[in-house]
Amino acid sequence: MIALKDISYVRLGTRDLDGACRYANDILGLREGQRYGPPRHGRAVGFRSDAREQTLVYFDGDPADHTTGFELSSMAELQSAAAELERLGHAVREGRPDECEQRRVQAFIGFNDPSGNAIELAVAPFHSGVRFFPTRDTGNTGFSHVGLRSTDPARDERFWTTVLSAKVSDRIGAAPLLRIDEVHHKIALFPSAYAGVQHINHQVASIDDLMRAWYLLQSRGIRVVFGPGKHPTSGAMFLYFEGPDGMVYEFSSGVRMVTDPDAPPRQFPFHPTSFCMWGSVPDIPEFR
Ligand SMILES: [Fe+2]
Repeated sequence: MIALKDISYVRLGTRDLDGACRYANDILGLREGQRYGPPRHGRAVGFRSDAREQTLVYFDGDPADHTTGFELSSMAELQSAAAELERLGHAVREGRPDECEQRRVQAFIGFNDPSGNAIELAVAPFHSGVRFFPTRDTGNTGFSHVGLRSTDPARDERFWTTVLSAKVSDRIGAAPLLRIDEVHHKIALFPSAYAGVQHINHQVASIDDLMRAWYLLQSRGIRVVFGPGKHPTSGAMFLYFEGPDGMVYEFSSGVRMVTDPDAPPRQFPFHPTSFCMWGSVPDIPEFR
């Protein structure tokens, strides 16, 4: 079993790096960290959302190229994870020093989950000595979870819960909400015809921050695709909105902690009321 310590970062390709960076800065309120390039591997820009040096990276590349990074506790665990994944038939790639430098980690390996989602396992993501503060008053308290697309959620749930250390907190239809620590979910797997990151969540401090965002997004012409609402599963209040290249971003507040490690998963039907207990209807294909 490969023990995931935390979710660390998402890396997204884009053909409009400047536009994506403007969005990350102005709309998400994230703070630009390091810029890399222009070299052989193109340009990349890291963004901060919490105490770490980066949690979101946009790079010059294919907008369908998405990678999610998770932290492991030690180099020894990274080595045994590589061996375990190879034993199970996953092609494992060891991060080059220049790639580790760009990811602001000590070391990492890359592989694909059974749907083909690019996953990286990293050791020692760098923390920053400079305090994070958002570029506007978003109330951001940090990067918290991703929705991943799954071509077979039951198969992928088995992978994430037997090879990796995730536990099912709840299911909505076939879609499991998976925790790797006490936070109700840090990964969710949504049925889809193809792999990729389906949404990216940052937590905000309160419902005031969600409502401020709701008005601000409307004034900036950003399409809100779900919410304001409240998830009956995690108890979090939420707002989902459209980002560059069709990516969906979420701000949410008040996610439940699951303190009992053996808490059994609850099953919710695949119905709008399982996504929002206030009656908001999602304009997100994977939630309908
Ligand atoms: Fe979410």
